[in-house]
Amino acid sequence: MANSEKRDRISRIEALQELWQHSRRVGKLAVTLGGKFSLKKGELEVLERAAKLHDVGKLLMIRLVSGNGSLTAKEREKLRYHPALGVLLVGLWLGSTGREVVMQHHEQPNGLGYPRGLREDQIHPLAGILAVADHYDALASDRCYRKRFKLSKVIQMLEDEAALGILNPGVVEKAVKLWGNGVR
Ligand SMILES: [Fe+2]
Repeated sequence: MANSEKRDRISRIEALQELWQHSRRVGKLAVTLGGKFSLKKGELEVLERAAKLHDVGKLLMIRLVSGNGSLTAKEREKLRYHPALGVLLVGLWLGSTGREVVMQHHEQPNGLGYPRGLREDQIHPLAGILAVADHYDALASDRCYRKRFKLSKVIQMLEDEAALGILNPGVVEKAVKLWGNGVR
């Protein structure tokens, strides 16, 4: 096997491991954060399942996510299909609310998210919680291509994203109270 082929294979395996670990952590974080809202037991279960499977669509584009983190415009465009692909893969198991939550985990209150560009109240509350847990974990964890950010920087970035309408400010406020002291 040529060296470059070997490197590609190793980076794909690392990307799969990273995807698996991120999904597990986001599952736990989303449930902890969801516990700060008055959710019913069934809603928390839907949230946990959706959080664990939110990026499962990336399995079908693992070459795309196994690079160094920098994507071309065309690759970024392709990546925007991962919520829908995830719903196609595991939709039956997610149930109708779970499907919506996975589908909406990259929607933003400012309407600039994807795939549908939903705004504010059009976004399912559980998807808003999942989005904050997802962002928090992405910033606070080591990635294949970069080290984690310091906690103070993570909190600042979450608050900036809330101010810009990328994340739900009410959810970010609860997340900062919950994780701002470094306990996950
Ligand atoms: Fe995602």
